[in-house]
Amino acid sequence: MKQKRVTVRDIRQMKGRQPVVMLTAYTTPMARLLDPHVDVLLVGDSLGMVLYGMDTTLGVTLDMMILHGQAVMRGSRHACVIVDLPFGSYQESPAQAFRNSARVMAEAGVAGVKLEGGAEMAETIRFLVSRGIPVLAHIGLQPQSVHALGGFRAQGKGQDEEDAIRRDARAVVEAGAFGVVVEGTMEPLARALTAEIAIPTIGIGASPACDGQVLVTEDVVGLFSDFTPKFVKRYAELGDQVSAAARAYAEEVRSRKFPGPEHCFGDKAKSR
Ligand code: KIV
Repeated sequence: MKQKRVTVRDIRQMKGRQPVVMLTAYTTPMARLLDPHVDVLLVGDSLGMVLYGMDTTLGVTLDMMILHGQAVMRGSRHACVIVDLPFGSYQESPAQAFRNSARVMAEAGVAGVKLEGGAEMAETIRFLVSRGIPVLAHIGLQPQSVHALGGFRAQGKGQDEEDAIRRDARAVVEAGAFGVVVEGTMEPLARALTAEIAIPTIGIGASPACDGQVLVTEDVVGLFSDFTPKFVKRYAELGDQVSAAARAYAEEVRSRKFPGPEHCFGDKAKSR
């Protein structure tokens, strides 16, 4: 029997009951490994930096997100899969956001989209949700606005920033988002928002009190080390293992230890 996937409604209803577990996934093999353990797989536009070596997420395109969304759907059957709308694909107008979200939903077959922005995106979120597109909002540190924010720095320092983030949180709830990622935000503020709003807050560099947590998988398993933000916890060092495996393979090829007879076709195969 086909397994039932976690839905955005399930995620919405987890608030106050159990923490939402979210990790990023960009490829089929990684999705296969993560799927049994998480509630949500996020096809984040962080893939621009993590997979493609870009300096920011600004160069990521809608076509890239759709291809990676399809790959993650092929590798999962349990988790709710959400795809990030990349920079420039939704900010212009609600109609532009709908057109591009509809492509993501139809071509990748995912459960919803995530977009960055608070009060200024409320009209767009309302437009999408009222036309059948579930939206996960993203407030606090917004990597697509890295230049406007003056770099990757924690948000919510000082009363003005705190008030603005509170307004953002209320606006995305009123607009109908099913959840909100709160990134790089002062801990007491993220904690307070979680208590104040009716939808799940998913923290990254926010607070243990958030309704759920998300991290970039490559950070978690040691496959991305260009920089490691303070909020990352490493649970494995796979990068070291890949490097050791490549070194051992290179040594064996150069010394003609690999391939051995067991890796060759035909009874008479011999090692050199
Ligand atoms: O792009 C991404 O991976 C994200 C998460 C870090 C929340 O937005």
